Amino acid sequence: MNTPSQGSTPRIRIVDAARYVGETVAVAGWLYNLRKSGKVVFPILRDGTGLMQCVGVKAELPEEVFDTIKRLTQESSVILTGTIRAEERAPGGYEMDIQSVEVLQRVPEEQPYPITPKEHGIEFLMDHRHLWLRSRRQHAILRVRHEVIRAVRDFFDNDGFTLIDAPIFTPASCEGTTTLFEVNYFDDEKVYLTQSGQLYAEAAAMAFGKAYCFGPTFRAEKSKTRRHLTEFWMVEPEIAYATIEDVKQLAERFVCYVVGRVLENRREELKVLERDTTKLEACLPPFPRMSYDEAVAFLQANGSDIQWGSDFGGTDETILTQAQDRPIMVDRFPTAIKAFYMQPDPDRPEVALGVDVLAPEGYGEIIGGGQRIHDLDLLLSRLREHNLPQEPFDWYIDLRRFGSVPHGGFGMGIERCVAWLCGLEHVRETTAFPRMLYRTKP
Ligand code: 4AD
Ligand code: MG
Repeated sequence: MNTPSQGSTPRIRIVDAARYVGETVAVAGWLYNLRKSGKVVFPILRDGTGLMQCVGVKAELPEEVFDTIKRLTQESSVILTGTIRAEERAPGGYEMDIQSVEVLQRVPEEQPYPITPKEHGIEFLMDHRHLWLRSRRQHAILRVRHEVIRAVRDFFDNDGFTLIDAPIFTPASCEGTTTLFEVNYFDDEKVYLTQSGQLYAEAAAMAFGKAYCFGPTFRAEKSKTRRHLTEFWMVEPEIAYATIEDVKQLAERFVCYVVGRVLENRREELKVLERDTTKLEACLPPFPRMSYDEAVAFLQANGSDIQWGSDFGGTDETILTQAQDRPIMVDRFPTAIKAFYMQPDPDRPEVALGVDVLAPEGYGEIIGGGQRIHDLDLLLSRLREHNLPQEPFDWYIDLRRFGSVPHGGFGMGIERCVAWLCGLEHVRETTAFPRMLYRTKP
């Protein structure tokens, strides 16, 4: 943009203000707040990197400059030019003494910015999600999310994993047929939106040894809980020649790394969110391990009516983890309630070599994974037991025909992880534009 107020004045970002003390610079942003008296105006500018209080003194400014600032409305887009000064008491530590202003668009009084400092209901805020992203809290959450995603990539990239993107249109179900979104492909061919890239990650593991996929996944979950979205991002590492023990160790190392990175690089954001970071600092190896049997016994002793053989409900996960200071790993779930691909325990085939990682403070499952069936005949019989057609899986079955080996991996949902790290009540705030049972807009 070639705007008059710029001239040769450098345009800076608020986060970099420290480098420009004493210099005249321009900051392009949006009006976050405005305090004013007859003689001084204090616009607070937001530019996406931070907040900066600016000061306009009537006696030192041309009248129209002072009046323009004084009439600014919330979220108007403006470029302010002035001198940067260190100011201990200011949020962020620097202020600008304003010399000139350029307004790109002034939000009219007749239709003011809808999100005001007063309390709004959650439905209203979700309807205005495209604007809500500008608020401090949402901004902080999405910055944590970005750090989680960067940490995820760095962890696997630095650990010898090759990134293999799994397709989104898939011919087969991975996590049961009840949560499939069906799509009309060409010529009436039916395909599904992927529930998990795992089956493809398994093919990749046989080609690369260690591989991961990372992308959006979809579940037609009719449940309206604080843990479920219909579209979420999942990272799924898969390793050849691996057992459930290898999977557990990887998951433990991985979770600790991600938490460590957020603590290292997102302190400010966690502060905005009023997150008790001592809770996250406690996330160190080794994570407590328990079997499904032990978990059921614990739950029954603590008020749950769960019976051996059923899956944990959300409340069960909360009971299991609310007293924990670090994630716990639960393994060996009943084979009957787990996906077709889970390797049954050879010593006790009624339980499967699957493991869930449950986040502490009541957050519950963030990771599901385990060891996969590598025997051809066993896989074929499990597909039959699950009433799954063989044809869409023929390529997957092939992996058991050509150099099959024990292998395993896991999937972590990014939104559940971010909800835990940020200390949020609900996953809906962990992604910019959540898709839920009754929400596909904005
Ligand atoms: O336990 P899930 O269903 O496991 C799988 O999909 C495996 N195929 C993963 C693998 O082994 N490669 O899902 C894994 C994780 C859960 O622990 C949770 O974090 C997240 O994905 N997840 C959801 N997150 C938000 N909304 C939903 N509806 C979710 N369903 C699962
Ligand atoms: Mg699961």
